[in-house]
Amino acid sequence: MDFSKRTFRNLVNQSNKMIESWYSQKIRGEKIYENKTPSEIKKVFSLEEKNKQCKPEDVLSHLDNNLLKYSNFNPSPNYYGYITGSGNQIGIIGEFLKSALNQNNLKWHSAPANTEIEKICIDWISKFIGYYNKKNAGVFVSGGSVANLMNIAIIRKIKGHNSINKDGIYGSKTMRIYVSTESHSSIDKAMDILGLGINNLVKIEVDNEFKLQPKLLREKIREDLNKNLLPIGVIGTAGTTNTGSIDPLDAISKICEDFNLWFMVDAAYGGPAASLSSYKKKFKGLDKADSILINPHKWLFVPFEVACVIVKNKDHLKKTFSLIPEYLQGGTEIEERDDLMNYSIQLSKDFKALKVWMTIKTFGYSKIKRSINNDIDMARYAYEIAKKDPLFQPLHYPELSILCFKYLSNSPKVSDSLLNKKITDMVEEDGRIFLSGTKINNENVLRINCVNHRRERQDIDFLFKVLRDIAKIAEEKIKNH
Ligand SMILES: Cc1ncc(COP(=O)(O)O)c(C=O)c1O
Repeated sequence: MDFSKRTFRNLVNQSNKMIESWYSQKIRGEKIYENKTPSEIKKVFSLEEKNKQCKPEDVLSHLDNNLLKYSNFNPSPNYYGYITGSGNQIGIIGEFLKSALNQNNLKWHSAPANTEIEKICIDWISKFIGYYNKKNAGVFVSGGSVANLMNIAIIRKIKGHNSINKDGIYGSKTMRIYVSTESHSSIDKAMDILGLGINNLVKIEVDNEFKLQPKLLREKIREDLNKNLLPIGVIGTAGTTNTGSIDPLDAISKICEDFNLWFMVDAAYGGPAASLSSYKKKFKGLDKADSILINPHKWLFVPFEVACVIVKNKDHLKKTFSLIPEYLQGGTEIEERDDLMNYSIQLSKDFKALKVWMTIKTFGYSKIKRSINNDIDMARYAYEIAKKDPLFQPLHYPELSILCFKYLSNSPKVSDSLLNKKITDMVEEDGRIFLSGTKINNENVLRINCVNHRRERQDIDFLFKVLRDIAKIAEEKIKNH
């Protein structure tokens, strides 16, 4: 299946040109979303059952003509959806080199440099956010949802009964985990997958800054103990998905200490902001967490996919995930070699660490911090615009890089909630910008996530221009309906 050297070089050049044109033409100034239907996309990329061979040049040309058109170009600063990182260009090269090397990071001897680079990156990230200690350890995984699942599996294993690996959770008292009402849905999913049950994820009400209320947490734990339930852990969120709020980590850690509970922090999104000196106070208590997760593919600007789980005590990670059958025993006799399969759900795993390492090595501590700061500034600039313009209303001051706000209806017949939902739908049809709405206090609102090192004030100005254009039409449409 290999090509000649020349053909391979030409194909690499051809794909380089494609990437160059995406980045030179699509970053600003054009639609980033074409709003195609699933059947339109299927038609363009369909494969015949006994697909004939195709020249690789033609495959690339086909992609050149179609791939971007049928995608959503999220490296653009006009993309504000979800909490999607912008990636970065050295990371693209990292992905390319990674595939060429095709490492399988299941064991140390199957991926030596890969394993050590992963450990170096985990240490670097821990130091960057102030979570480092000599006994901690971590692994890269595909995303924050898997990292949450792994964290909760650790809590269950360490705080549950001793034979949970053999007998399951049966025979145990009902285990309870506590989070705020603003926590990420992947935690609910993990409770379900791990057999703990979504009803045993106790949601603590937030205050008016969308932060968990420690007093209510303490009361809930006491209540559960009185009911003979088994509290096992509390999850603080450092950067909630909806509004970017940081829970009072220090107060939560004290409660965990008092009740001997596992303290975990979901820092999937917000964690990198802990590196900023102006944020040390907000993240106070992060260093006390027994385990955390943080996603380089969000706010460390690394291309998808890569998240990490980090624990304070390496033994806890190993105790939860190590299981070695006969066919995986090779190469284990040298003690200083760490097989990362023993710290993870995954066995086969790609060289995720390369793009992380290349990002850190290329941009360094200060440039990454500057970009994080810039994203916060952009969200605050958007806040100022929304505050000054009587057509808009910001719903909170951005603690990090997320802002929720709404367009205010001019007519008593049109509710703000209906109008903002309509605007979100019409933004998708329009395609010049992309954002994802959310609900705050049960009302549809607009939400922007500003994680993108390319964003400037002119982009935020453009966002508001597009929103004003669309909102007027949306309001008319609803009125005339
Ligand atoms: C706080 C938080 N935790 C976990 C996740 C899940 O991460 P991923 O999308 O990488 O699965 C997200 C995603 O936005 C998040 O905001």
